[in-house]
Amino acid sequence: MDDSLRQEMCGILRGTRTLLQEFQEMGVEGIPLSAAPVAKAAPEREPIGSGVESRETLDEIRADLGECRRCPLAEKRQKIVFGHGNPQARLVFVGEAPGREEDIQGLPFVGEAGQLLDRILFAMGLGREDVYICNVGKCRPPGNRDPLPEEVAACEPFLKRQLAAIRPRLLVALGRCAAQTLLRDRTPISRLRGQWREYQGIPLMPTYHPAYLLRNPNGKKDVWEDMKKVMRRLREEASE
Ligand code: URA
Ligand code: URA
Repeated sequence: MDDSLRQEMCGILRGTRTLLQEFQEMGVEGIPLSAAPVAKAAPEREPIGSGVESRETLDEIRADLGECRRCPLAEKRQKIVFGHGNPQARLVFVGEAPGREEDIQGLPFVGEAGQLLDRILFAMGLGREDVYICNVGKCRPPGNRDPLPEEVAACEPFLKRQLAAIRPRLLVALGRCAAQTLLRDRTPISRLRGQWREYQGIPLMPTYHPAYLLRNPNGKKDVWEDMKKVMRRLREEASE
């Protein structure tokens, strides 16, 4: 076996070990072997209510955002992180704002917290291509501080339009910033998590942010409980 193949195999085995350790910490008892219902092609959407809701596409919204200078975060950012994934996703994850890696790559959740999010998705039987992932803030706040209220205010209309364009069946708010912003509720995330709420008529599950889980692995069991609720509801929705 040549060295590069050996290295690749060692990498895969290390990744598998990390994944299994993660499952143990989360309390995952088994993973779905068949594709989760969310992974099936999204059926043609029926207009909800009066049918006057957004018909914009994500590409149109991205074009409108342009090289955004609507808040001071534009000064120091490298790349705007608009969001990524399936434009017809039945499940959307909303995080806080890009970190260092995301700012470099222009993609959401590609750093360490993102790798943990990938492992959570894997346990749910999902991949990135099945869901859509975005953030409240589209530019990196210096030093990864929380986005300021005026920065959130400048950015939030775009998130709203993204969610209106995708019209997912379910939303997951990752962490305090996303949960409190979307719900307009200052209740601590430790009390918000695990309870179904609603955003613009879409059921929303608040849970802990993966970056928080990196610092507090004890929270992984809670997040897995929350994700089991999400999986159950997705299954119910799919069989309706
Ligand atoms: N944390 C977030 O909230 N979003 C990202 O995209 C990356 C890290
Ligand atoms: N603080 C946050 O901002 N998010 C969490 O998930 C937990 C603590």
